[in-house]
Amino acid sequence: MRISIARKRAADLAADMIVIPVAKGSETGGAARELAPGVRAALADRIEKTGFEAKPAATLTLQSDGADIVLVGMGDSQDAETWRRAAARARSAAGGIKAETIAICVGSGRAASKHVGPVVEGFLLADYRFEKYKSRDEDAYDGPSSLIVAGASLPPSASAAVKRSRSASEAVCSARDLINEMSTVKTPSYLAKTARAIAREGGLSCTVWQGKKLESERMNGILAVSAGSAEPGAFIKLVYKPKRKAKAVVAVIGKGITFDSGGLSLKPAKSMEAMKQDMSGAAAVLGLMKAVAEIAPAVEVRGYVASAENMPGGRAQKPGDVITFRNGTSAEVLNTDAEGRLVLADALCVACEEKPDVMVDLATLTGACMVALGTRIAGIMGNDQGFVNALIKHGEQAGEKIWQLPLPDEYKEDIKSSVADIQNIGSSYGGTITAGLFLAAFVSDTKWAHIDIAGPAFAEKPMPYRPRGGTGFGIMTLLSYLDSF
Ligand code: BES
Ligand code: MN
Ligand code: ZN
Repeated sequence: MRISIARKRAADLAADMIVIPVAKGSETGGAARELAPGVRAALADRIEKTGFEAKPAATLTLQSDGADIVLVGMGDSQDAETWRRAAARARSAAGGIKAETIAICVGSGRAASKHVGPVVEGFLLADYRFEKYKSRDEDAYDGPSSLIVAGASLPPSASAAVKRSRSASEAVCSARDLINEMSTVKTPSYLAKTARAIAREGGLSCTVWQGKKLESERMNGILAVSAGSAEPGAFIKLVYKPKRKAKAVVAVIGKGITFDSGGLSLKPAKSMEAMKQDMSGAAAVLGLMKAVAEIAPAVEVRGYVASAENMPGGRAQKPGDVITFRNGTSAEVLNTDAEGRLVLADALCVACEEKPDVMVDLATLTGACMVALGTRIAGIMGNDQGFVNALIKHGEQAGEKIWQLPLPDEYKEDIKSSVADIQNIGSSYGGTITAGLFLAAFVSDTKWAHIDIAGPAFAEKPMPYRPRGGTGFGIMTLLSYLDSF
């Protein structure tokens, strides 16, 4: 997609479609005032006749000879998310007339410049498709080729905003591609190969542990989960270092179960259908590192991926088996379907040993989190309220909703084992919390947060700028957090 900035009034734009976001009660206001007098009059007439009100997501189209003029309702909000959604509406309107070039007016004046980033994000994210496995219709519309962000007096910083939001959005789309890819293709080795390519392109360092190296490093969680699969597990580390002295070191860890059959504690068929998504945390980490290499924040960022395929093969781990982890903690595996925490335990140990200032893991960890918070909101737990608050706040700005759950000491009872230090499942209740408490056993003296993305990682139904399938949830929040240093 070509993206350009046009410091022009709406009347002077050359595009197939000119999109004008308008506030409620001011349907003829904003950039609509910059249209040619004749067009303005026709628009006012249309608004009058149709009773168009600028409610969020409402649109009104006026065919004028030059371009289609599309008003997009903003309600009474001007926040980043409203602008993202307006741009997403613009992208879907473009399909109706097979528009090649779309101009979106962000308003005039300096204040308008903060809308540039969200407009680029909403548009690019809504433009995403996963059509690799569909046969192609020769004369199908392939989507627009050019986006023009228009505003009469946009400052020079607008280009930097376009660049940053493009990198961020493309990273989200590459994470979506990985999530939507079939499990038979995207094995742990494939994730490792992808990480190496990201490192090569972005000048990051990359380390991959597989086979014997996982054994000598005592990555016993990844090994135990991989035991039932023909695919070897992998532990992946990517590091970005800023040119100047880093203001902080941030570690990000992703759950990378490339397929979760449940293992011997086999899932029923229905629950297995979407389990290619169980590496969404890993996809977010890989996407984040790709964006970080381009955006170059002032902090060191370490990305870790703990990857395995959870299968019930002849050598599979069995309920009742005990794993002794790298930090000496032992855990009884009562349910092989609670595998995410086993691979994450290894990664948390390594990340902790390397002493970052803060660390956060992203994992499609528990169905219980979807029961609690639904499919649009992630759960967060942690050992440092300031860090948790920061991630929630950056999530709000990024359009990713995150809600905190507690990590109460009393519930540690639930994961006590009769044969090992802990066990990998709790009682029937509070499954998200007991999973968080299990992870906490592998975190020492480091500020840590755990984000359970089981709900929002994969959209069963399309949402604004999130088509059905992998969403890439988490990347935008973390990029916003990294920008705050
Ligand atoms: N990957 C699943 C969690 C999940 C479920 C993610 C639905 C996305 C959508 C995880 O490995 C799992 O199977 N968790 C079990 C834990 C239980 C056995 C304690 C669950 O949630 O049922
Ligand atoms: Mn599972
Ligand atoms: Zn899983």
